[in-house]
Amino acid sequence: MPGTCIIGLQWGDEAKGKIVDLLTQQHDIVVRYQGGANAGHTVVVGDKIYKLSLLPSGVLTSGVTCVIAGGVVFNPAKAIEELDELQSRNVEDCDNLKISDRVHVIFPWHFAEDRVHDSNTSDGENIGTTQRGIGPCYGDKVGRSYAIRLGDLYRDTFRKQVIHNTKEKNRTLAALLPKDEFRPLDADTIFEQYREYAERLKPYVADTTEYLLSAAEAGKRILFEGAQGALLDVDHGTYPFVTSSNSSGVGVSNGSGVPARYINKVIGIVKAYTTRVGGGPFPVEQDNEIGQQIRDQGNEYGTVTKRPRRCGWLDTVAVRYTSRLSGVDSICLMLLDVLSGLEELKICTAYEIDGVQTTTFPSHIDDLRRVQPIYETLPSWQEDLTQAQSLDDLPQAALNYVDRVSQLIGIPIEMVSVGPARSQTIPVGSSPLVTATP
Ligand code: GDP
Ligand code: IMO
Ligand code: MG
Repeated sequence: MPGTCIIGLQWGDEAKGKIVDLLTQQHDIVVRYQGGANAGHTVVVGDKIYKLSLLPSGVLTSGVTCVIAGGVVFNPAKAIEELDELQSRNVEDCDNLKISDRVHVIFPWHFAEDRVHDSNTSDGENIGTTQRGIGPCYGDKVGRSYAIRLGDLYRDTFRKQVIHNTKEKNRTLAALLPKDEFRPLDADTIFEQYREYAERLKPYVADTTEYLLSAAEAGKRILFEGAQGALLDVDHGTYPFVTSSNSSGVGVSNGSGVPARYINKVIGIVKAYTTRVGGGPFPVEQDNEIGQQIRDQGNEYGTVTKRPRRCGWLDTVAVRYTSRLSGVDSICLMLLDVLSGLEELKICTAYEIDGVQTTTFPSHIDDLRRVQPIYETLPSWQEDLTQAQSLDDLPQAALNYVDRVSQLIGIPIEMVSVGPARSQTIPVGSSPLVTATP
């Protein structure tokens, strides 16, 4: 009974979508269980590129059931847009989608609140959210008074909820926004629009907690698709420059409703360097020519917001922390090809703070802001790696890099990725990823 989790171990965009896609064929069910349309997971199948924000990446493989579990904050318009797009591209298998009636629904006021709050931080540095209403929707979920779950959309009380929320949200938004920027929300319009969404999505809505529990008990193979990365975890990441859900391995059970006893493998996804989108401390950032070279070679621009991603060297202090936090068994080292052609390579092995060396990841961002990364320099390679099919095809310097990363993180590397395509995947040892169809 394998329950496998795919968890990003940095600040997101580690190429989780590629690995989920590769592993989907060996599973019966693929589950998104936290986050929402702030995610942008890219899957490349032959000459087709799919960018999924809300639907699990397993949706591209036929015969697999895809689940959006209760821990997700759900934008119905985005889900419909993705379903329509997939259908227009002849991905037929969307029938096997189940959306939890427990997901909290994102409403227009959440987008407005995201804009207001993210330009109003106390220390002047914005979180730089994706503006997808994620934080405000999770805020309402925890606050309870204004929360609306997908199951509520099918009840007679839904109109009353919308009228109540619209009135209250207009009141607070009017107080927060400059007069010329405030546009009152209209309850009737929202009600009609969301009733339409509800009708369209009705065939997919289900009690996914019950479904997943029964599936786990019956020994079905479940793949949990983490969104974001562990350093963005609301409890254990670089708070407050985080997202609003548990995006590290600790979030799998609470988001999906599947207890930890059914999870028997956690795969950590790690980029061969580091990227971050939005604000917040980033000790290994290379805000210079090296960072620009990595950005250009890795095409490091946001999948969702198209923002240029901040780029830097690999930080093994951070990744060792997040791999322990997520209970990682093995690592997929992604985008190794992007490092070709650099003059030399650096890996951060420790931090220095106030003259003291440490390998402990600081719990407070003020400390993280002050750390000086300590680097080890490794020889680079000039060869193009994108055609490599096995470790034997990699230059010695690349092999050394992979080995050293594994040593420093203290976790075996199960797979190395040298390009976006399924076939650009090199197994290390007896990885199950080798069975993937190109
Ligand atoms: P996710 O959010 O973790 O799924 O990652 P994103 O899709 O946001 O970003 C990863 C990007 O890297 C996508 O454009 C992928 O197609 C691409 N990609 C995945 N693996 C590799 C790789 O090994 N090398 C290169 N060059 N690109 C890759
Ligand atoms: P995937 O799943 C990278 C970042 C945002 C911002 C912070 C909070 O594709 O890896 P939010 O909108 O969640 O309130 O924004 O989190 N962020 C991501 N960065 N990849 C993601 O998802 C992200 N989802 C959110 O840039 O800094
Ligand atoms: Mg992404």
